[in-house]
Amino acid sequence: MRVLVTGGAGFIGSNFVLRVRANRPDWRLTVLDAMTYAANPASLDPVAGEVDIIKGSVTDPGLVDELVAAHDLVVHFAADSHNDNSLQDPWPFLDTNVIGTYQLIQAVRRHDKRLHHISTDEVYGDLELDDPARFTETTPMNPSSPYSATKASADLLVKAWTRSFGLRATLSNCSNNYGPRQHPEKFIPRQITGILDGVRPKLYGEGRNVRDWIHVDDHNDAVVAIIEQGRIGETYLIGADGEHNNRDLLALILELMGKTADWFDFVPDRPGHDLRYAIDASKLRAETDWRPRHADIRDGLAQTIAWYAANEGWWRTAKAVAESRYAQVGR
Ligand code: NAD
Ligand code: TYD
Repeated sequence: MRVLVTGGAGFIGSNFVLRVRANRPDWRLTVLDAMTYAANPASLDPVAGEVDIIKGSVTDPGLVDELVAAHDLVVHFAADSHNDNSLQDPWPFLDTNVIGTYQLIQAVRRHDKRLHHISTDEVYGDLELDDPARFTETTPMNPSSPYSATKASADLLVKAWTRSFGLRATLSNCSNNYGPRQHPEKFIPRQITGILDGVRPKLYGEGRNVRDWIHVDDHNDAVVAIIEQGRIGETYLIGADGEHNNRDLLALILELMGKTADWFDFVPDRPGHDLRYAIDASKLRAETDWRPRHADIRDGLAQTIAWYAANEGWWRTAKAVAESRYAQVGR
């Protein structure tokens, strides 16, 4: 099977490429990535020569048409992905996440190919901290940030194309990922790399916000399971029952890195900061044989910390750029 992976030089996409090379050796992979600030081509070094890497944008209709025509399946990870950046400059999010998805589904439709569209649980807005409810596939979309609004828009386009044009697509909405090769602008790698640099972690607001953490390999295994076992036209929520508030998660990182639990600072909250995300993945578990392998976040975090400690060259430049952006907004 010839597989086009958009955004394959980013965090989740590059882990997908590495994992699929190991687990599905008969899939022939092409990466289409604009190589924005969020990409790190070094993430694909382990598969150099085994995967075609094309630098280009999903918003480029000619390039997208040509590439889609030459593949059987498109796995669409490419996006502008960071909430904080979307508050400062929403346009790239509209361009890539909405227009880019439009260009892709038009090409997939024209050439009658198979698509798997990657999305986030953030399209559902947030839950109260004390609410026993979790998101399901029938939760109404209610996005809070420019990032999540553009991801919800993309999801709606894909769904409309399946209904109106018979697009052969599946969709998945996953909770917060962690693991190796995540950009140091995101919470977990920002704090790990900061601690390695002797800098105190920064918690937004009161640190009470809850995220439902999943290891990136568990996410990508679920994506493969949906591609192989999911039903066309359906959405699957992906989560691994990993709810932690930011303060508790940071305490665990501090402990694993030999710091005391109070070695951090509170910084001003993110505007519109979603309180809590939580996924009910019953449908995915009922319809596929997927089960998460990284049940213990302590082990997953220890592995992630070890990776950042051993790969400073991978994150050093990106960290400097991310921290200069944070400095502009006092976070
Ligand atoms: P990332 O920012 O690490 O990577 C995104 C990649 O897309 C980068 O390599 C970037 O260069 C590329 N890209 C950006 N604009 C592009 C364009 N116009 N054309 C081609 N490539 C472009 O993001 P990530 O964390 O790996 O997220 C990947 C996908 O997973 C996104 O769709 C995101 O919404 C979704 N998702 C992420 C999480 C998470 O916790 N990180 C959770 C659920 C869903
Ligand atoms: P983030 O990794 O940006 O993911 P998302 O906004 O998609 O959930 O942030 C995860 C949580 O951590 C979120 O509640 C915001 C919080 N956060 C901090 O407290 N401090 C930080 O320095 C960052 C980057 C995030």
